[in-house]
Amino acid sequence: MFSYKDIGLVNTKHMFEAAMKGKYAIPAFNFNNMEQMQAIIQACVEAKSPVILQVSKGARAYADKYILRNMARGAVEYAHELGCDIPIVLHLDHGPNFEVAKDCIDNGFSSVMIDGSALPYDENVALTKQVVDYAHKYDVTVEAELGVLGGVEDDVAAEESKYTKPEEVVDFTSKTGCDSLAISIGTSHGRCKFTPEQCTRTADGILVPPPLAFNVLEEIEKQLPGFPIVLHGSSSVPVEYVKIIEQYGGKIPDSVGIPEEQLRKASKSAVCKINIDSDGRLAMTAAIRKFMAENPGAFDPREYLKPAREELKKMYMHKCTDVLGSAGHAMD
Ligand code: G3H
Ligand code: 13P
Ligand code: ZN
Repeated sequence: MFSYKDIGLVNTKHMFEAAMKGKYAIPAFNFNNMEQMQAIIQACVEAKSPVILQVSKGARAYADKYILRNMARGAVEYAHELGCDIPIVLHLDHGPNFEVAKDCIDNGFSSVMIDGSALPYDENVALTKQVVDYAHKYDVTVEAELGVLGGVEDDVAAEESKYTKPEEVVDFTSKTGCDSLAISIGTSHGRCKFTPEQCTRTADGILVPPPLAFNVLEEIEKQLPGFPIVLHGSSSVPVEYVKIIEQYGGKIPDSVGIPEEQLRKASKSAVCKINIDSDGRLAMTAAIRKFMAENPGAFDPREYLKPAREELKKMYMHKCTDVLGSAGHAMD
């Protein structure tokens, strides 16, 4: 057993209480490599924001679980070195089963998600409860999910999203004892969150998505007053990045995300955690494509990863400061 407490990480409990009270949301940024981790920590230290570093099953496969854990340990020390001991959570994103969740709990994670959203309701309850019972023995917090997001969740691809049913949330959270609940109100994973048919278009051809189902969120808040809610699939897919990527040879048609104003509004509600991965992928890709096109002779990875890391940092700071409102709340 390797406890997260020994490497200076925290669980989500106090973070979510403070976010609920302060009407902001904690950024949950996915990371797979050193440059992403450095950019997240640099941005959150500068913004004085608490942060959730999240690791998907795919990230564990890409980077190795021990390396990721030690990067999280490094993140704590790096924040200290940069001058602000921001609270840092190491979270398993979309835990697919009990075994992976247990492995993370046993290996330094301070928070895990168990994603039983594709299972029949009773099986989701049973699996979530099994993870909660184990996690709580070690003071690890657990995020569960009810409802189905469109797009791809690791190995689980859903054709259509199914909004969370507000009438199920009290039964689900009381039976499972989970600490936070991811809900489906129209967000989805990846860079194409809606089909062009679901959107309208501005005069210059930019896709405008339909609004999130705030009525469903409000109903859930009424059913579960003060309970931390999580939004997955919350990248905004900035048009500027899409344009740069396409200008320098990429092809990413029909890209469309969640408008920032809607995430700003959600952050002021019971939504305490907002997941952002795709925007980081877009920021890095845009910066690297531009750099490589402008510097055809470049072949030292440090040369092109540096502007990528700088662009990532800028994007993360913007999220903390202008979208989620978490900036300045590191010491809450
Ligand atoms: O929800 C999915 C996250 O964006 C992680 O994606 O499984 O490709 O690492 P990944
Ligand atoms: P995006 O694809 O919108 O960044 O969502 C990421 C996510 O929900 C990770 O769990
Ligand atoms: Zn997700």
